[in-house]
Amino acid sequence: MDRLQIDGGPRLDGTVRISGAKNSALPILAATLLADSPVTIANLPHLHDITTMIEMLGCLGVEVVIDEKLAVEVHPETLLDVVAPYELVKTMRASFLVLGPLLSRHGRAEVSLPGGCAIGPRPVDLHLKGLAAMGAEIEVDGGYVKARSPGRLKGARILLDVVTVTGTEHLMMAAALADGVTVLENAAREPEVVDLAECLTGMGAVIRGAGTDTITIEGVERLGSTYHRVMPDRIETATYLIAGAATRGRVRAVATKPSLLDAVLTKLREAGAVITTGEDWVELDMEGRRAKAVSVRTAPYPGFPTDVQAQFLALNAVAEGSSRVTETIFENRFMHVQEINRMGAKVVLEGNSVAIVEGVERLKAAPVMATDLRASFSLVIAALAAEGQTVIDRIYHMDRGYECIEEKLAGLGAQVRRLP
Ligand code: UD1
Repeated sequence: MDRLQIDGGPRLDGTVRISGAKNSALPILAATLLADSPVTIANLPHLHDITTMIEMLGCLGVEVVIDEKLAVEVHPETLLDVVAPYELVKTMRASFLVLGPLLSRHGRAEVSLPGGCAIGPRPVDLHLKGLAAMGAEIEVDGGYVKARSPGRLKGARILLDVVTVTGTEHLMMAAALADGVTVLENAAREPEVVDLAECLTGMGAVIRGAGTDTITIEGVERLGSTYHRVMPDRIETATYLIAGAATRGRVRAVATKPSLLDAVLTKLREAGAVITTGEDWVELDMEGRRAKAVSVRTAPYPGFPTDVQAQFLALNAVAEGSSRVTETIFENRFMHVQEINRMGAKVVLEGNSVAIVEGVERLKAAPVMATDLRASFSLVIAALAAEGQTVIDRIYHMDRGYECIEEKLAGLGAQVRRLP
């Protein structure tokens, strides 16, 4: 099992190229199942999760061709099967998103329920309720969701009780081929929802309001070919900027979109960073200073992203002063706290959702273990800012969501090595 060895200390200084957004690429790959002719997706990040989704398409009989520019051409017209097996869905929740497109286009689908998840119970009840409201007959049997729709799904007015990102995406996809108009209320406003809507629109869908809390989808009879370039990964961008801040360094992220990062950039400025931005780049410079502690509270977009909480907590762990980090989206998303405390951080949990962080001048290297995707990178940040050599075990979690970690960190001057 791969481990990452990091010699802490040096300030990060340099430029990092941001990859395509994983959380946008996954639903977009699922959405290709709605089309009746080839769809080309560019700027896909090279990640385990993306490979899993492509394997899922393959498992359904769909041909996927990688072109010379590493764009992926999906041939949904070659589909042979509508069953998504447990073996694939259990390794990645987002693969559950094939349910809606299969059902909407082929009238039938059997998709395994996603298994438990390390960051708390993550139900899919709202996905299923929404599909049922569109007329799907849904039965859960033997761990599989078996869904049928006698004719086309029917447009419906759906109020989502909780703001759910993949739930919104799932229902938007299903509604694209439904008969009539679907209105999603209390929809997620995340930029990845907008990116998916743009891809669907390119395929011929009629969607208004993506990026607001009310999305209206006028169902159409068929969807077809398009070329879509996946948006830059805002979470990866935030992660590298925070790593720069924790090492009192300077990091320029390119091929990104800073306008999607307002909440994070505001907090980094409060922490003392000098931030400059252009349309597709953002630079953070600490000018050698130690960050000031800043409290954060996660919230749906445009609030502070839960996927950046662990990384910001690591910054607060070495910042001057104390701070409060509040998680409001997931129930059990502080597993990094125990690990970071092994490196000398002073973080105390108050219940499940609040961490009180007392900044220390320097962390000390210690063997630690990655627990989930974003939490893992918080340990990298801690290790970069620590004295000595840290080895992080179980980094397969990180490989699911961060492309070329060693190369990107090395490009910023970090001393990082992957150990087999
Ligand atoms: C997506 C992101 C993930 C991010 C999260 C929140 C992808 C592939 N993943 O996950 O990286 O951390 O958004 O920004 O895009 N909920 C229900 N019932 C449902 C669905 C969700 O109660 O049917 C609850 C969840 O338990 C959670 C909250 O809604 O408390 C938000 O979760 P949701 O937005 O659905 O997260 P994901 O879409 O799974």
